[in-house]
Amino acid sequence: MKSIGARLAICYVLASTVTFASLFLAGRYFIEHHAIHALDLLNQSEFEQIRASQTALGTKLSEAELRKRVQAMMSDKLELFFTEIYGTAGTVVFRSPGLHGRDIAPSPRHQAFNANVEGLGELRAGKFALGPYTVVVATTKEHVRVVMTAYEHAFYGLLIVMIAISSVIGYGFSRMALRPLRLIQDTADHIRSDNLSERIPLSGARDEISDLARLLNQMFDRLEASFDQIRRFTAEASHELKTPLTLVRLQAEKLVVDGQLTPAQEQAVQIQIKELAHLNRIIEDLLFLSRADARAISLDLRPQDPEPFLQNFAQDAHVLAEHRQQRFFLTHHGSGQAAIESKWIRQVLLNLLSNALAASSPGSRVTLRSTLVNQCWQVRVEDEGPGVAAEQRERIFERFVRIHRPGGEDKGSGLGLAICRSIVELHGGHIFAEAGPDGRGLSMVFEIPAVTPSDTAGNTPFKAPLHSTDAA
Ligand SMILES: Nc1ncnc2c1ncn2[C@@H]1O[C@H](COP(=O)(O)OP(=O)(O)OP(=O)(O)O)[C@@H](O)[C@H]1O
Ligand SMILES: [Mg+2]
Repeated sequence: MKSIGARLAICYVLASTVTFASLFLAGRYFIEHHAIHALDLLNQSEFEQIRASQTALGTKLSEAELRKRVQAMMSDKLELFFTEIYGTAGTVVFRSPGLHGRDIAPSPRHQAFNANVEGLGELRAGKFALGPYTVVVATTKEHVRVVMTAYEHAFYGLLIVMIAISSVIGYGFSRMALRPLRLIQDTADHIRSDNLSERIPLSGARDEISDLARLLNQMFDRLEASFDQIRRFTAEASHELKTPLTLVRLQAEKLVVDGQLTPAQEQAVQIQIKELAHLNRIIEDLLFLSRADARAISLDLRPQDPEPFLQNFAQDAHVLAEHRQQRFFLTHHGSGQAAIESKWIRQVLLNLLSNALAASSPGSRVTLRSTLVNQCWQVRVEDEGPGVAAEQRERIFERFVRIHRPGGEDKGSGLGLAICRSIVELHGGHIFAEAGPDGRGLSMVFEIPAVTPSDTAGNTPFKAPLHSTDAA
């Protein structure tokens, strides 16, 4: 069973049931014991009456006299007691008519004993000496049995009620006991690389769970410090690399412009320039991502109708698609406004478009479907390429994750979608990939909340380096 809460509740119910059953068994033993003891006392007092009735006769008791006296004495309580009197030779001197001639068979060892007499059920009997005679007085145990059966029935009824009540208490108890753990779970669930400042709330108690929460908080402190260090390192390293890289590139370009290189040397330098440009782009992308992680990018969000913005983008998209012998289509429906900063959303669209064009073969179509309904602006970029397996669709948003396909282009650095996600999230939206229409190709979808015209937000825009696109 996976849930500790359920296990705790079950243990509580089991413990309550075992305690209740033990109490039942002990109670049963004492009640039965007392009831039987009461029967023994009854038998004893009956015998005392028999003895009292015989003492008047003196010590010499004839069998006939004894029988007569006992018979006369018992006539009014035939149902309650069964009496048997044995003579010295073991012969039966008297037997209650209620015994119907059956023998009680006294125990040779015990003074009080249980006897089973056919037709009468179990009897409780006592054996007493009366001069030379042995008197056996017995009472039916039926009343004890009835009491014990009623006791058992009451137990079963109470057991069901107890299980129901203890289940409710056990469930409540386990929820109460696990509340601090759920709090830890919820907080740990929220904490991600972009939200490392959150901490588990600590109660004043100094128990095992608050110790655990304290330990986890200390671990989050260390993690936050390490993440900050990594971010700072990435930002600083990218920044520091940019200047020497620009110098190297300028030097290489100067060599080409000077024209003193042999054709072979010039080709080698051109390759260097291309690779330097690629490297420069990666550095700029990393710089952007580390700033976005550190929330150092502020957007100038302006509510606007996305349609004219998309029409404008479509002009460039047509050219890029034609360059790859593909076709681009744009559809838009719905009306309203979304708070966006156009240059960043354009960047997202260019990245998605360049991925779609790179993945599709000549002659295929890339469609951008935009809808602005129900306070949400949704944009889908659909292509007819090979798509991405369902289990990879989330991974492709991670940094440097690329899926290599035989015959596919191998130019990118695997940062484009990570940047798209950062930009969309900075706009308060989300982005994900899903199978294309009819299961063909890939649909990249992003959604940004739509706003009413009065909802303006934003401040000074951050002049972050742009992620250049492959398709350009
Ligand atoms: N439309 C698509 N169809 C198929 N695969 C895709 C599509 N878009 C992205 N991918 C896969 O996801 C990977 C990651 O994409 P991403 O844009 O992050 O990096 P990239 O395009 O390889 O490099 P970069 O964009 O940084 O130049 C790509 O390498 C590609 O394998
Ligand atoms: Mg890309």
